[in-house]
Amino acid sequence: MKILVVGGGGREHAVIKKLKENPAAEVIYALPGNGGIARDAICVPEIGATDVKGIVGFAAEKKIDYAVVTPDDPLVLGCVDALEAIGIKCFGPRANAAVIEGSKVFSKNLMKKYGIPTAKFETFDDMQEALAYVETAPIPTVVKADGLALGKGVVIVETREEAREAVISMMRDKKFGESGSKVVIEEFLTGPEVSVLAFTDGITVKPMVSSMDHKRALDGDRGLNTGGMGTIAPNPCYTPKVAERCMKEIFIPTINAMNAEGRTFKGCLYFGLMITPDGPKVIEYNCRFGDPETQVVLPLLKSDLLEVMLAVSDGKLSECDVEFSERSAACVIMASKGYPASYEKGFEITIPEDIVDRVYVAGAKLSGGRLVTSGGRVLGVTCVAGDLKEALSESYKAVEKIHFDNAYYRRDIGARALAFKEV
Ligand code: AMP
Ligand code: GLY
Repeated sequence: MKILVVGGGGREHAVIKKLKENPAAEVIYALPGNGGIARDAICVPEIGATDVKGIVGFAAEKKIDYAVVTPDDPLVLGCVDALEAIGIKCFGPRANAAVIEGSKVFSKNLMKKYGIPTAKFETFDDMQEALAYVETAPIPTVVKADGLALGKGVVIVETREEAREAVISMMRDKKFGESGSKVVIEEFLTGPEVSVLAFTDGITVKPMVSSMDHKRALDGDRGLNTGGMGTIAPNPCYTPKVAERCMKEIFIPTINAMNAEGRTFKGCLYFGLMITPDGPKVIEYNCRFGDPETQVVLPLLKSDLLEVMLAVSDGKLSECDVEFSERSAACVIMASKGYPASYEKGFEITIPEDIVDRVYVAGAKLSGGRLVTSGGRVLGVTCVAGDLKEALSESYKAVEKIHFDNAYYRRDIGARALAFKEV
């Protein structure tokens, strides 16, 4: 089977390593891939993840049997629709379902219409109305750009002044381009956060093991929001009781709501949840695997990923086992110092051969046969062990063995999860 994976981050590296466990995956292409993925797949750096035309042309030329589209932008742009139009089977939602991530106004209205628990909110496409609203809104409040904004379109504001600034920067100054032409202003919720990725074929939903992201750049959850500095799985805050509620109150109702809207969702649906004193609520949906959640979730998957993905595409998920190990996984992201603001790149990366299996490369390219840094988040190291403490200790030991100049990583990944366990 010739498989094409769209994307070139740590998440795609984790997907590719897992797909390769099935011998039926004879050839895997990554578009564009990266310098680290090049060990595991044939990378095509000339074709970027948002170059839908280029991707479709490549798929036709190489007679691809199966395409896995993982990043948000190509999904929202209709990459799956375009590949299916030339007869290629895909994993990932069509554009009309990817809108669940592509528009926060859409997803909030969906939740309201179908009674899915989420923060109370108002939506605005007029700046003056948004500005008038923040004068009376409860503070703190949360201002969100409607569209995709590289995970940066959410601002938690502690004062009215900050609220005004957030609205103006999104709606007038177009800080996130057209993504900010509409905004959602919502209630500030509190409680531990849980990420749950779920396979769904639009009929059945099978949640994967839960995980916890660490979004802030610095230890103690300080500093700027990033794409994610580390993850652990399972998330101890996601108790069996919470899981049962989420299935009943959130997961199944979401799948049904999308069907009722004529927007059947097939692929991996990401539920960003907050376990509030009033029960679990949806903070956000993503139309895809999370990054770096995937780097802890897939290493715990005992079932065959390719079979599960094909079952999703064929609408046969109910017939397919999706089993996870009882063990724990921890992923520590090594970034370029300065990320998510400015940072230097081009430094050589050395990864000892004995740990290369555990490394998921994100921001690195090959230059004269050497692997060099080329992005903010450079790589992630995931270890799996009997419990979280051991998994963390193994991951940090592995991190110590990897070298590149200006490497930075958080030292407290998993600390909150460990503390939760002890309560
Ligand atoms: P997002 O980019 O949508 O993942 O949001 C980034 C982060 O903002 C989330 O992981 C939460 O920590 C926080 N956040 C988003 N919405 C809310 C809310 N309504 N209340 C409290 N925190 C929120
Ligand atoms: N880790 C959060 C995301 O993938 O959006």
